[in-house]
Amino acid sequence: MDVYEAVTSRHAVRAFTARPVPKEVLERVLSAAAWSPSGSNLQPWHAYVLTGEPLAELKKRAGKRVAAGDPWDEREYEMYPPALKSPYHERRSAFGKERYSALGVAREDWEARQRAASGNWQCFGAPAALFCYIDRDMGRPQWADTGMYLQTVMLLLRAEGLHSCPQMAWSVYRETVAEILSPPDELILFCGMSIGFEDVTANSLRTGRAPLDETVTFVEG
Ligand SMILES: Cc1cc2nc3c(=O)[nH]c(=O)nc-3n(C[C@H](O)[C@H](O)[C@H](O)COP(=O)(O)O)c2cc1C
Repeated sequence: MDVYEAVTSRHAVRAFTARPVPKEVLERVLSAAAWSPSGSNLQPWHAYVLTGEPLAELKKRAGKRVAAGDPWDEREYEMYPPALKSPYHERRSAFGKERYSALGVAREDWEARQRAASGNWQCFGAPAALFCYIDRDMGRPQWADTGMYLQTVMLLLRAEGLHSCPQMAWSVYRETVAEILSPPDELILFCGMSIGFEDVTANSLRTGRAPLDETVTFVEG
């Protein structure tokens, strides 16, 4: 698979089969992803990979919290600015519309939307998950480095025939994740990532993108 195909075939998959992901594949992907760039080569990412019983236990504990309507854990970072201005606000609304109409859920059907969102904490059925932490001392450039690392992981997963879904949603149940992973106190959970084989029988979503001239400026000589 060439890089263009890996980039364009990657999408956030929200339905996986139970087919296990071999450990040697995950090791190959994560060994190659370690070549991701980072300012001064700090490599600020800390990845934990969960499969099998520990992942089942995490899903069970998170599922209980969701079912109990347990409030989210105190935030360690803001997922989005409090007031999203244009054009981000419109893009976010367009995404919500795309996501829920692909599921056949009406925008005003709050319960159905909550049910769909709760799939996050079951890793959408995926048999493997990665949790990416970053040291709380790190600044914006290192958060950007971590994003590059995660995209590299997702593209390499494509090369292995696998799919993924990056999930900030896990940050709201970060204490439950920490019960299973016991990360050191100096780490913040940035996001989770579900990993597995796509369930091609489920509804899938292809999101659109802004036209090139909205996000890229060529300054030509
Ligand atoms: C850092 C990050 C966090 C995300 N968190 C979630 C999440 O918690 N749940 C989810 O379903 N999708 C999540 N997504 C997926 C985005 O919604 C998705 O990437 C975006 O809508 C573009 O769609 P595509 O990835 O399918 O092309 C996240 C993506 C990124 C990059």
